[in-house]
Amino acid sequence: MADLAVDDLTLRRDLKTELTRFMMSYKFATDEMMTKINILKEEFSSIHDYSPIHQVTSRLKSPEGILKKALRTGCPIALDEIRDHIQDIAGIRITCSFVSDTYRVCDMLTSQQDVTVLKVKDYIATPKPNGYRSLHLLVAVPVFMSDRVQPVTVEIQIRTIAMDFWASLEHKIYYKYAGRVPAGLLVDLTRAAEDASRLDVLMERLHDQVIELGVDPEAVDDRVNMDFLSQMPMSRDVLDAFVRGRVDIPAAAP
Ligand code: GTP
Ligand code: MG
Repeated sequence: MADLAVDDLTLRRDLKTELTRFMMSYKFATDEMMTKINILKEEFSSIHDYSPIHQVTSRLKSPEGILKKALRTGCPIALDEIRDHIQDIAGIRITCSFVSDTYRVCDMLTSQQDVTVLKVKDYIATPKPNGYRSLHLLVAVPVFMSDRVQPVTVEIQIRTIAMDFWASLEHKIYYKYAGRVPAGLLVDLTRAAEDASRLDVLMERLHDQVIELGVDPEAVDDRVNMDFLSQMPMSRDVLDAFVRGRVDIPAAAP
């Protein structure tokens, strides 16, 4: 009896370590992807004054949430099975201003060498019957641990601000009605999704017209965002060194 209790304790301790390592691998994979996305976001907004990425957020499913989903979907309660079958443990959501940006961001991420694309679901080209629109990517990124390299799955949802506005409201309504949403409200929601989609088309058309009419895209590309520069320390000595390099003036004797 006493032996059993000790075994039980050891088993629990080992499981806790295993589960912690499991969760950590998803946290690291999320961090890795967030770094990639933030690099793109900063690069664009610093150099081009405009970023196709409006906002990016991430979340990890809690061990309780993972367990609930495993029970709901009939996935065996074993970490290897969960790793293979539950693919939204690590989730990232990117919002963009325009539809074309969602595809642009998708291309920029999926073309990175260490990102393996497992699945793409384009609910923008083919919306769900309720009107849900979004670009879903399942990718695997390598996580370098002390004793192994582990490919870890991350779910990425890319959508416009209007699609996101709709999806969060729809999610709230579903939650409030515990899935039994009155038929009239469902019709209104689907209409709202279509209106949001029309708004996306209109806004993108306006945006394209503004670019065509007024601003030379080359000029936009060449412009440097001054906020970014003002935050970067550039001492007089550093600038002097560059000036000397450019005009080939030797440094003054000390
Ligand atoms: P799970 O629903 O997570 O098991 O994934 P799935 O295999 O059915 O994939 P799917 O691509 O359909 O949905 C994945 C995620 O997209 C969901 O967990 C939601 O975050 C989001 N999503 C999908 N459909 C809807 C929808 O109709 N409304 C809202 N608000 N979100 C949705
Ligand atoms: Mg999900």
